[in-house]
Amino acid sequence: MVIPRPGAETPQEGFFTLGPRTVLRGPGELTTAIRDALGPATGFALPSGTAAEDGLIEADVDHTLVPEAYRLTVEPSRVRLIGGGAAGVFYALQTLRQLLPPAILRSATAPGERWEIPAVVIEDAPRFSWRGGHLDVGRHFVPKADLLRLIDLLALHKFNVLHLHLTEDQGWRFESRLYPLLTEVGSWRRETSGDGTPHGGFYSQADLREVVAFAARRHITVVPEIDLPGHVQAAVAAYPELGNDPSRRIEVATGWGVITHVLNLEEKTLKFCADIIGEVTEIFPGRFLHVGGDECPTDEWSGSGRARERMRELGIGDVEEIQGWFTRRLSAILAEHGRSLVGWDEICDHGDVPGATIHAWRGYERGVEAARAGHDVIMSPVAPTYFDYYQSDRDDEPRTIGGHNTVENVYDWDPIQAELSEEEGRRVIGTQFQVWTEWQPTPRDVEYMSYPRACALAEVGWTSGPKDREDFMRRLAEHLGRLDALGVNYRPLEGPRPWQRGGTGARARV
Ligand code: ACM
Repeated sequence: MVIPRPGAETPQEGFFTLGPRTVLRGPGELTTAIRDALGPATGFALPSGTAAEDGLIEADVDHTLVPEAYRLTVEPSRVRLIGGGAAGVFYALQTLRQLLPPAILRSATAPGERWEIPAVVIEDAPRFSWRGGHLDVGRHFVPKADLLRLIDLLALHKFNVLHLHLTEDQGWRFESRLYPLLTEVGSWRRETSGDGTPHGGFYSQADLREVVAFAARRHITVVPEIDLPGHVQAAVAAYPELGNDPSRRIEVATGWGVITHVLNLEEKTLKFCADIIGEVTEIFPGRFLHVGGDECPTDEWSGSGRARERMRELGIGDVEEIQGWFTRRLSAILAEHGRSLVGWDEICDHGDVPGATIHAWRGYERGVEAARAGHDVIMSPVAPTYFDYYQSDRDDEPRTIGGHNTVENVYDWDPIQAELSEEEGRRVIGTQFQVWTEWQPTPRDVEYMSYPRACALAEVGWTSGPKDREDFMRRLAEHLGRLDALGVNYRPLEGPRPWQRGGTGARARV
């Protein structure tokens, strides 16, 4: 009863029972992860060894499998976790945790629990290479410790990307050594929608190195997003010279919506972007850097004499072409660092950005267009992957931005639909859920919006083959016992309960 459902499961006779004398065998870096996962709840030492009075758990790598694939064999006296790479062994371990009673997920021993694993052979591999969760830490800051917990939850569900939306109109969360005012000024806003309460916070570079390393141990790549050239009010509040009217001081945004402040077109501003990208690439080692590009109004460029002068210098005939020019410059900067650009699908609207990976959010058809234009695509349309939307049409759901995406809608959805040819379909590298935090002021709220819908998206991203929603809902009902053991503030399937409806934000809740 595993989520995401494995590719092939063949039940066998009998059980393996984890006991005080169970031993581990295999390379140290693999057995350490097994000991860390199974030791705290069982209280067993799980030493490395070969004596096998209470059975043996073996881990190894078989390079004939793809790196994230695994074969898990549970026999009465032996468990084998064989991965194509360390990631595959890690995913075998996530499956093993789900074959044990939910108490295995607790961090203290559970007296009287029998640690039985039904004998089985599981052969499993992911459908997509990009299985992501996005978190907007710009609208409401999520403290580092909570971020680590959310990463642990992603790992349990075999996600391999955390897309961290680090900059917003309402807050800049990335510590820059070169531009300290970005966090000194830009990480705090005076209030939120008139609540009179300052809100802020940022990650130091040391914090982010820790987040990256914690995620990497769980085979999750953190993809940072620095949203450019729109959604930059916090940056312009810190450094007015980045904006289109440097004589005007603006504050970090205190309300929501699409905001007209955008970066100006000066070479010094592109130097700023290059400097920030340089700092970001030092901390985030992954191939991809997300440059946003969503919701970038042209009003300020149209209204600025200096922007029009720059357009003439640059040979740009129409303000609508500016974002394309800007994004291609960013792409060139990333290429100097050996990195690839990801952007929201608006970056396709202003001329091509060769080599860009397109993050389709405004609708499935945006991803189809990008795939047809030869881009790799992450399919994340608002319906059903925006988890800041309501989870039902009940009137006792906590307030959200609007829209509805139920757990069933998420499960039923397919990132590769009939209109894509086989070749276009291969351009779809994966899918991702998005949690925007306008109305999610605390990590408790983020958990409420993420789970259990993330369980469904995990299966969409991981599992190949036909779907069976009834089977999924049965497995999900059982899986919620695991989320209970972890203390996750998920939305119960039968609807919100008062204590689960939201966090401790000062704002009155619906
Ligand atoms: C977005 O939702 N503005 C990407």
